[in-house]
Amino acid sequence: MKIRKATKKDIPEMGNLIKKEFAKSPYKEKWSKTSLNKTLKDFFNSGYAILATDSKNIIGLIILKEQEYCDGKWMVIEELVVDGKFQGRGIGRKLIEEIENISKKGKFSQIYLSTHKGSKAFQFYKRLGYKESKKTVFMRKILK
Ligand SMILES: CC(C)(COP(=O)(O)OP(=O)(O)OC[C@H]1O[C@@H](n2cnc3c(N)ncnc32)[C@H](O)[C@@H]1OP(=O)(O)O)[C@@H](O)C(=O)NCCC(=O)NCCS
Repeated sequence: MKIRKATKKDIPEMGNLIKKEFAKSPYKEKWSKTSLNKTLKDFFNSGYAILATDSKNIIGLIILKEQEYCDGKWMVIEELVVDGKFQGRGIGRKLIEEIENISKKGKFSQIYLSTHKGSKAFQFYKRLGYKESKKTVFMRKILK
């Protein structure tokens, strides 16, 4: 497995991986090619992505955004996904370790993300030392 920074040329293959994995439970997301392409292009304008690849394919990706806050810089994980065929082999951990190294070198004050409570990802992040914030809750209003 190799780790490299993504370029805009990777967008279609990144899109395929996101579409495939987030169609599964508990997410059941139905992404169209158009909306996924737009979302990924927007991510590239505001941040960057790091990929895990095998000899020919993208097998994992993490999308990041750096934000400036009152207490310094925050590294925001916008998306993390490992191809189902390769999950449970340490690839997610490797991607997180990679961005933790970048964040430490860049003197970021914290790494921030939101995740689905019923997902494997929630257990995965806890295993890697991430904690639920005591002060912040994620709120929304569904508009019908
Ligand atoms: C979450 C995800 C990225 C984890 O990637 P992965 O490559 O399968 O995880 P790893 O093999 O690197 O696991 C790292 C550690 O987390 C633990 N872990 C992974 N899934 C776990 C689970 N469901 N419950 C408990 N621990 C878990 C592993 O046991 C491992 O521990 P260890 O390194 O101490 O042995 C992957 O399952 C995935 O892509 N899921 C679908 C998309 C998703 O939910 N993305 C997150 C959106 S915010």
